[in-house]
Amino acid sequence: MLSFSVHHIGYLVKKIEKAKQTFLSLGYHIEQETVIDDLRKVKICFLIKDGYRIELISPVSADSVVSGLMKKYKNSPYHICYETAGLEASIAALTADGFIVIDTPTPAPALGGRRVVFLTSASAGMIELLETETSA
Ligand code: NI
Repeated sequence: MLSFSVHHIGYLVKKIEKAKQTFLSLGYHIEQETVIDDLRKVKICFLIKDGYRIELISPVSADSVVSGLMKKYKNSPYHICYETAGLEASIAALTADGFIVIDTPTPAPALGGRRVVFLTSASAGMIELLETETSA
């Protein structure tokens, strides 16, 4: 039985350090300091408040994976990430339900090297899947 648990909300920001300070003022605390994902050319940090985990993402160069999205969204939440066991089975189930895979599963340095993949749905927009730590 497949299950999907919410892991974080991905939040695009133009300037990650300024944004981090603003979220700290709102009472968030830092779960993980900023790291650079060289593959995706983004800076990422994780913040927590009231049991909610927010991922701040900011492009480090014009060819970053989020540069196009940044033009559209500015500073804004733009995906929900779901943790799931059995990444391939979950992808298969979601694509059967109409989701389209928009990249390939690749390790995410900001998440301990666990693989992530992005999908989009005409009715639900963009989501991210994150494999559980025990998933092979
Ligand atoms: Ni994410």
